[in-house]
Amino acid sequence: MYNRKDSFYKKAKLEGYRSRASYKLLELNQKYKLFRKNDAVLDVGAAPGGWSQVALQLLGEKGIVVAVDILDINPLNDKRFHFIKGDIRDENTLSEITKYASSFDIVISDIAPNTTGQKFVDHQNSINLIKTVMNFIMKTLKKNGIFLFKLFDGEERESLVKDLKELFEDIKIIRPDATRKNSFEIYIICKGYKLG
Ligand SMILES: C[S@@+](CC[C@H](N)C(=O)[O-])C[C@H]1O[C@@H](n2cnc3c(N)ncnc32)[C@H](O)[C@@H]1O
Repeated sequence: MYNRKDSFYKKAKLEGYRSRASYKLLELNQKYKLFRKNDAVLDVGAAPGGWSQVALQLLGEKGIVVAVDILDINPLNDKRFHFIKGDIRDENTLSEITKYASSFDIVISDIAPNTTGQKFVDHQNSINLIKTVMNFIMKTLKKNGIFLFKLFDGEERESLVKDLKELFEDIKIIRPDATRKNSFEIYIICKGYKLG
């Protein structure tokens, strides 16, 4: 079982990150060079804010982070940060997002459905959420943009990746070190958005 007091959790608390997930993003950025100083970043499924913290840390003065979640986030006191409380499946949430930026250089999504303990159901719900995010980014991701997302892995991954290959130049599937050993979470990094 996931132990909330594991070493990454303790490290996160000590270093002021709101979640252990911050380390996953730092690790991914170090290896795959995701963020550039002036990027407009969309953080989908952002609560409690660990990924947004990392993005703000990596961006320069002109960068912005627009974060969305159904749950509240304690404010991150940074003028480059904008939070929208809403469901990503709701059209109103999507129009709120575009009030802050009409297009994004990078979309990061750590979005996760409530887990049921049944791997197939969790996988299916995860796929459905990612498909919703994909529909949205097809309208808002800039040409050559990046899409990084978490997925609860399963049999539909292959067909999802096939679709992504139509949209992006380069796709990588990653299981970062900071991921719990028995978890079925994977990360997919898509670079070089062909449309936009
Ligand atoms: C693993 S957490 C994200 C952790 C975050 N990246 C961090 O570092 O602090 C996943 C989030 O996805 C959010 N979420 C799930 N379904 C959602 C939906 N339909 N719309 C918006 N957010 C959603 C959950 O509320 C939860 O906060």
